[in-house]
Amino acid sequence: MSRGGPRVLRAEPLAAAARPDQYPRPGAPEIAFLGRSNVGKSSLLNSLARRRQLAQTSATPGKTRLLHWYRVERSAGELWLVDLPGYGWAKVSRRERRTWAPMVEAYLGARPTLRAAVLLHDLRRDLGEDETLLLAWLAERRIPALLALTKVDKLKPMRRAERVRRLRAQAGLAPEAVIATSAEQGLGIADLWRALDARLGRP
Ligand code: GTP
Ligand code: MG
Repeated sequence: MSRGGPRVLRAEPLAAAARPDQYPRPGAPEIAFLGRSNVGKSSLLNSLARRRQLAQTSATPGKTRLLHWYRVERSAGELWLVDLPGYGWAKVSRRERRTWAPMVEAYLGARPTLRAAVLLHDLRRDLGEDETLLLAWLAERRIPALLALTKVDKLKPMRRAERVRRLRAQAGLAPEAVIATSAEQGLGIADLWRALDARLGRP
């Protein structure tokens, strides 16, 4: 794990949408952020963009309810980060639960500029059925997947490596595709940028 990362020149909200006819016209390459509610998607996106409050975060699960696009400009080029609504939010109404999958699948299944999906998962928990299904779903559609393990600051450093090894094995991903992060402490952000740039074919 390392601190720092490349310089971000600009970061700004671009669009929010629920349905494909509301999406912004495809432009720069996109990276999607996916995972259980409250896992830290919006927080990690803010860390990557080096902006505290670009995407809204909340201690209450279910904060992000639409797809949100953020334009990030770095010296390596422009990139759009897409914050997706979280799943598994217990208090969400049944109607809303039924809209999550079509909303996210419509995006992941048919976005021509999508280059990779980052599945976020709390380092302290084992992968659940939701995560396993999502990884399989992404693999089937040949969408490169990264697994970002979140909130590593909540575990003592000694326990972290052991958890990362276990989750790597559970995910069945290449070692470099599984990255331990803390949005709170800025850990793993440079590693995540490196992995994303590799997926984007950028040096
Ligand atoms: P939804 O929008 O509901 O799907 O949630 P989300 O995945 O976007 O989570 P969000 O970024 O809003 O963070 C949820 C809570 O976790 C907030 O209280 C954050 O402050 C906290 N959190 C996020 N990342 C970290 C982290 O690295 N360490 C710690 N300790 N807390 C974190
Ligand atoms: Mg969010």
